[in-house]
Amino acid sequence: MAAQPVSQLLRRFVRSCARGCSSVAPVTQPRPGEPSRPSTEELSTRLQFLREHAAPFSAFLTDSFGRQHSYLRISLTEKCNLRCQYCMPEEGVPLTPKADLLTTEEILTLTRLFVKEGVNKIRLTGGEPLIRPDVVNIVAQLHQLEGLRTIGVTTNGINLARLLPQLQKAGLNAINISLDTLVPAKFEFIVRRKGFHKVMEGIHKAIELGYNPVKVNCVVMRGLNEDELLDFVALTQGLPLDVRFIEYMPFDGNKWNFKKMVSYKEMLDAIQQQWPELEKVPEEESSTAKVFKIPGFQGQVSFITSMSEHFCGTCNRLRITADGNLKVCLFGNSEVSLRDHLRAGASEEKLLSIIGDAVGRKKREHAGMFNIAQMKNRPMVHIGG
Ligand code: 5AD
Ligand code: SF4
Repeated sequence: MAAQPVSQLLRRFVRSCARGCSSVAPVTQPRPGEPSRPSTEELSTRLQFLREHAAPFSAFLTDSFGRQHSYLRISLTEKCNLRCQYCMPEEGVPLTPKADLLTTEEILTLTRLFVKEGVNKIRLTGGEPLIRPDVVNIVAQLHQLEGLRTIGVTTNGINLARLLPQLQKAGLNAINISLDTLVPAKFEFIVRRKGFHKVMEGIHKAIELGYNPVKVNCVVMRGLNEDELLDFVALTQGLPLDVRFIEYMPFDGNKWNFKKMVSYKEMLDAIQQQWPELEKVPEEESSTAKVFKIPGFQGQVSFITSMSEHFCGTCNRLRITADGNLKVCLFGNSEVSLRDHLRAGASEEKLLSIIGDAVGRKKREHAGMFNIAQMKNRPMVHIGG
């Protein structure tokens, strides 16, 4: 039998401490009516135990630069009901045959394994994840996993208003909605489909159901929607939104063109002209966003600076594509098929060693955006954002 991971032992230890740690540290009896509180001596014994015995994080999910990968993004489908210009061509992208896509059971087997090893956040992506018929069931099953704190979805919002009440009941607790314009006709031009009002309805439903913040992803493109920056920022005055301006990125097939990219600095400058009081908000260490707020506004504004300032140093993400490939870097083309190993009957230990090897090969940083513009990578919609 494989040795129990230290993280599991630690979890058990912490749980037993919560019940009263009689085997490890002396317990002071509380007086009647007084809540039980550990003594300083007891606390320091526990801390000492944790220091000596805790592997702070799974070795399989820690790379050679010490980055601990606690965030997993899973693409539920390659299909999408929109055709955003920056993501795919008009005619769509070639789709993987259904038999080669991960089944729901396979998704759950893999996520169970990742969560057991320390993943505490999972984001469902696509294509458009909300067109997978059993997405509510997937969220409900993920919600059963002990240790998983955040279940998020990145959606284009078309099906959101209809599905959100069920998704929320199932355990969905974070939402990112893509919206690049506030002008309905421009929306149709950018995404090559109708649906602006459905997306707005989805955003309002998310607010109504208490999601806070509701993240809105806006890919900024010169000559297309850069003139709407201030309108997006103004939305954060009365709504609990986190409007995330994303630098337009190069991917195969999106006819990427350097001139279309509006840099974070340029955007920030334009916003500061209107709101000089804009202030920086400290963000989590692994955050990919630079966060700002206008004092008195309900929401906030962020920038995803994928092009001008990469965030490889604090990257804690892994990705699984809809066809079951593990991808350790969005911008690298090395992938390993977890699906094939699963279908060949690989044991948990074997899968973990394959995952550990792939994570171990993760590079310190990607090749730089100017190289990537020329690199062959799968279309964004296959990788899952
Ligand atoms: N550049 C920047 N962001 C992109 N996305 C997709 N393609 C690109 C691109 N070329 C992002 C969009 C969407 C999410 C699913 O992926 O912001 O919200
Ligand atoms: Fe669909 Fe998202 Fe790609 Fe737009 S960006 S086409 S919504 S997958």
